Amino acid sequence: MSYVRNAWYVASWTQDLPATGPFAVTIMDERIVIYRGESGRLIALEDRCVHRLAPLSLGRCEGEQLRCLYHGLLFNPDGTVAEIPGQDQIPAQARIKSYPVVDRHSWVWIWMGDPAKADPAFIPPAVGPDDPDWLLGHGHLQYDAEARLINDNLLDFSHLSYVHPDSFGATESWARNRPKVTPIERGIRVTRWMTDQPGMNGRESEESKVKLRDRWTTYDFFVPGVMLMTGGTFPVGTAKALNYEAPDLAKAEAGVTFTSQAISPVSSRTARYFFSWGPRADQGTEEIRDMLMGIARKAFDEDRVIIEAQQKVIDQTPHVKIMPTTSDKAVVLYNRLVEKMAREEQALRSESHAV
Ligand code: FES
Ligand SMILES: [Fe+2]
Repeated sequence: MSYVRNAWYVASWTQDLPATGPFAVTIMDERIVIYRGESGRLIALEDRCVHRLAPLSLGRCEGEQLRCLYHGLLFNPDGTVAEIPGQDQIPAQARIKSYPVVDRHSWVWIWMGDPAKADPAFIPPAVGPDDPDWLLGHGHLQYDAEARLINDNLLDFSHLSYVHPDSFGATESWARNRPKVTPIERGIRVTRWMTDQPGMNGRESEESKVKLRDRWTTYDFFVPGVMLMTGGTFPVGTAKALNYEAPDLAKAEAGVTFTSQAISPVSSRTARYFFSWGPRADQGTEEIRDMLMGIARKAFDEDRVIIEAQQKVIDQTPHVKIMPTTSDKAVVLYNRLVEKMAREEQALRSESHAV
């Protein structure tokens, strides 16, 4: 499976960065060190000193620069070397890679491709815990599985009925309902109405859960693996009255929540999964947010168990092909988009090498 390099990958929750000092992450097998310069700006460099290859994440921030705490080489934010203690000449090859990095929507985004193409306009419009319109909790999970399998999972909610009947309280309707799948710029949109539904865990009170409603869910799934989802419940008959088109969420009766999720490949068989979830500020409380996060943690562990087990089967029998079903429409379209973007990038790289 190919990955698109010209894209913003989530490296961390902003809130999880240490207040001072460097922070190590790995994305697509590349070791990266992130730190905040004295000015407050984020800087991301290759996490490997040019001298004897020690990790710079064990180094020390000095103003906007980072010093390797092995033999003291000092690096500039652009990856060049500012000082070699005891040596006047700095060789031209004394340079490490510097990555474009942006702090937005409470996520630290790193551009893994050609720095000249790093346009912050490509950052998906996520909603972070810093947004006053929502009461969001946040967390992350480590996966022993390829990032693509997690993307596939999030693009096909038919699994909710079988993986999450207890945590989310998902009924069989999720597996039987076929969502509307539409291509969008750098992604796929998945929308669905489910009519005459009982309430789901956490989103309605126990008494109100028995009342049937029409449930609207919509999410955008962007390259390289960012899902932004919202939805809410409406009185029975709403879906039909709207001819199954999108409702005005401001008029939802209950259960309006938002979740931003991102999957970043760490290596070919490991990934990091970042997630937030919570109610709209005017409909919820911090208690509801915390209860939703408890449900999310349980549910995302359920996903992890099946996906890591799936990875083991795939690795033991790599020659066996998958057999898509009609639930896989969004999975197929998204993966096709990724393949196309990756191919185009590859062609551009070969062209520039040929020149
Ligand atoms: S390894 Fe960094 S200064 Fe020697
Ligand atoms: Fe799931």
